[in-house]
Amino acid sequence: MRRATAYAHTNIALVKYWGKRAVALNLPATGSLSLTLDRFGTETTVAPHDDDDDRFVLDGEEVTGKERARVSSFLDMVRALAGSRARCAVTSRNDVPTAAGLASSASAFAALATAACAAFDVDVDARARSILARRGSGSAARSVHGGFVILHKGARDDGEDCFAEPVAVAPSLDLRLVVVRCATGRKKTGSTDGMTLTERTSPYFSSWVATHDADLQAATRALADGDLASLGRTMERSTLKMHASALAADPGLWYFMPVTVAVMNDVRAMHDEGVPAYFTMDAGPHVKILCKSTDADRVAARVAAIAGVLGVEIAGPGPAARVLA
Ligand code: PMV
Repeated sequence: MRRATAYAHTNIALVKYWGKRAVALNLPATGSLSLTLDRFGTETTVAPHDDDDDRFVLDGEEVTGKERARVSSFLDMVRALAGSRARCAVTSRNDVPTAAGLASSASAFAALATAACAAFDVDVDARARSILARRGSGSAARSVHGGFVILHKGARDDGEDCFAEPVAVAPSLDLRLVVVRCATGRKKTGSTDGMTLTERTSPYFSSWVATHDADLQAATRALADGDLASLGRTMERSTLKMHASALAADPGLWYFMPVTVAVMNDVRAMHDEGVPAYFTMDAGPHVKILCKSTDADRVAARVAAIAGVLGVEIAGPGPAARVLA
């Protein structure tokens, strides 16, 4: 094996994934549609390591325990493909707060899949790499590609039809996501735990899954037609249904902070005032606002003034995961 470095950007789901149809292969209960961003991401280097165990250093700190085991199991899959037993030193730098609900696992596993395949000289196309990245984290499958991406739920038990690919977008749609940071620190309930709890205990989980395909189709059509109003409405609907299913879990689970709700209220107010702006949020307190590129500065300035907002960044469509060296 050789030393290889890759970079992957985070992505934010417009139509969400929440729930698993099979845990062992990390197969989602729903498809999803996302935007890979041009900021926030992970740079990862995989290098040969002269030891019995893999090593994992994240943002300059040695990682042990469950998180290192997760990286090691992921490397086992690449080693199996390569027919190698070589141990690795993995060094990652996150340009996004870790586990804070800003999709750090999406960029992390897309970067790890891309770097590890290059390091072990495993010849896989983007579709196979997205299937591999999905094993680390469902959302990571989407970060293998740039721009707007669909992750197919698939039907097969082996997960070979559960892959991500780019989707068609009308050239007239020049969109931005305004990322509004609403808290610092790690979230209390990770996405896998949150999904499992919802799936196990929420009476609304089955409705979430039953109505999901229609949202995915509506959003895909809206992207192709260049229809921001339909895309935005569908995105808000998907977000609220996902969070409603979690709220109805036992014990109820929510990721909203007071400032999260204040930002969502302000997005609704903007919308009522004629600015086409739409919110989404994931398994964390932050809000992301979808709007036209020409409205992004004023949307960002307006939400930055809300008490409790910690930072606002404007992101556009970003590139696919790539090998740097
Ligand atoms: O793939 P994970 O474990 O990072 O889960 C992602 C879950 C959400 O961010 C809430 C939704 C999504 O589709 O990204």
